[in-house]
Amino acid sequence: MDQIVIRGGQRLKGRIPISGAKNAALTLLPCALLTDEPLTLRNLPRLADVDGFGHLLNQLGCSTTIEGSRPEDFGRVMTARTTTLTSTVAPYDIVRKMRASILVLGPLLARAGEATVSLPGGCAIGNRPIDLHLKALEAFGAQIELTSGYVKAVAPGGRLAGGKFTFPVVSVGATENALMAASLAKGTCVLENAAREPEIVDLCNCLVAMGAHVEGIGTETLTIEGVDRLHGATYRVMADRIEAGSYACAAVITEGDVELVGAKADEMEATLSALRQAGATVEETKTGIRVAMSGRAQPVTLSTAPYPGFATDMQAQFMAMATLGSGASLFTETIFENRYMHVPELARMGCDIDVRGRSAVVRGVDRLVGAPVMATDLRASMSLIIAGLAAQGTTEVNRVYHLDRGYERLEEKLQAVGADIERISAG
Ligand code: UD1
Repeated sequence: MDQIVIRGGQRLKGRIPISGAKNAALTLLPCALLTDEPLTLRNLPRLADVDGFGHLLNQLGCSTTIEGSRPEDFGRVMTARTTTLTSTVAPYDIVRKMRASILVLGPLLARAGEATVSLPGGCAIGNRPIDLHLKALEAFGAQIELTSGYVKAVAPGGRLAGGKFTFPVVSVGATENALMAASLAKGTCVLENAAREPEIVDLCNCLVAMGAHVEGIGTETLTIEGVDRLHGATYRVMADRIEAGSYACAAVITEGDVELVGAKADEMEATLSALRQAGATVEETKTGIRVAMSGRAQPVTLSTAPYPGFATDMQAQFMAMATLGSGASLFTETIFENRYMHVPELARMGCDIDVRGRSAVVRGVDRLVGAPVMATDLRASMSLIIAGLAAQGTTEVNRVYHLDRGYERLEEKLQAVGADIERISAG
C-alpha cells in the first residue's frame, strides 16, 4: 500500500488551488439519474469516491464520459446520461465501500417509482443510521420495507405524492435524498429543519438548473413543487470548503502564508472565525482567501454543529493544529459519536490530548516528533498530515487510500507551497 512521507518543519508559502467539493460532487452525480438528458458537471474533483460513484451510476444504466482531462489539470468535466435506467438496485458490495451510495435511493425512487439499496452499515466514525432518509421518503408517500440488509422503497402509482417532513435532527444526506426524490413528486413536498450546508445549496441550484421548483434555498425550510420531468444541465461543482480549511490549518501550524485559490469566504465563516481565534491573519483576496500566521497558535474552544456552525469535518484538522498551540484548547464533538480516532495516532507524535466522552482537551506542547502513523478515516488522516508538516523528523502516513477519497493530489499541492512531502508507491 502507498505511503506518504513528510519531513516536517517547512513553512508553507504560496498559492494552493482548491478543488471541487467532494461532498457536493457526491450529491450532484446522482442527479444524473433524474433525467434522460445529459447532466454535465464541471470542476469535478479527481477522487476515488467520485470514480466509485461513477461506477455505481454505470451499473444503473447511466453512461459517463470524461472530457478535457489532461493529467496536469485539476478537476474534470463529466457528462452523465441515463437514457434508460437498466437497474434500480444499489448492491451491498458498492454501498459498504462508499456510504454516499445511499444517495441513489431518492433519485431512483423518483425516476422509476422503486429502488432497492443496501443498508450501508456502520463506519469508522459511528453508527450512522439512515432512518431519517427513510422517514422523509415515507412522509412523501413511499412504502418502505427492510429485508435481508436491503431497503426496498416503492412509490405507489409510480410517483411520490408529496407531503411534509420535519427532521428531528439535522441530516445532510437525508435532506439531499429527500430533495432529489421530491423534485419529481406529483405534489408539493416540504422539508423542515432541513440541512443548510453549502453543498445542499449547490444541490438545490443544480436541481433548479434541471427544471426543478425549489423554494427556501439556503434556509431550514425547503418547499419543492414536483414537476413531471427534469431536463439536462451543465453545472459547476462548488469549491471544497473542507479542503480549503484543511490547508488553512496546515498553513497555521507551519507559521506559513498561503492563498487558498478559489475558496469562498461566505461558505466557511465558522472555519475562518476559528482560524482568527487561533491568531491567524485571514483575509479575502480577489481570487480566494489568504491565511497567514506567525508564532504559536492561540488556544481555541470549538464545538461542532450543523452549518452554519463549526463543521465536524474540520474538527480533526483543528485539533492537529492545536497540538502545538500556546495553551489548552477544548473540543466538543456533537455530530458523530466516535470521531476522535486520530487522537491515539497524534499521541504517537508527542501530543497531549485528553478525551472525556464527547470532549477533548488539547494541551499545546513545544514540539512534535515524526512517527509512523495511520488513520481510519479521511479527516483523521488529514490531521496526521497537518501534524507531520510541523513535526521534527519524518512522519510516515499509512492507509493513504483514505486521503485519496477526499483530497485531490494532496502531495503535489503541498509540495508546490514548500512542503517536503512525497508519496512512496507500493509498486
Ligand atoms: C455528511 C457528509 C460528512 C459530514 C456530515 C456532517 C457527505 C458525503 N458526507 O454525512 O462528510 O461529516 O454530513 O456534516 O456529504 N443521522 C441519523 N439518522 C439518519 C441520518 C443521520 O440519526 O438517517 C445522524 C448521524 O448519525 C449524525 C447526524 O445525524 O449523528 C448527522 O449526520 P448527516 O448530516 O446525515 O451526515 P451524512 O450525510 O452521513
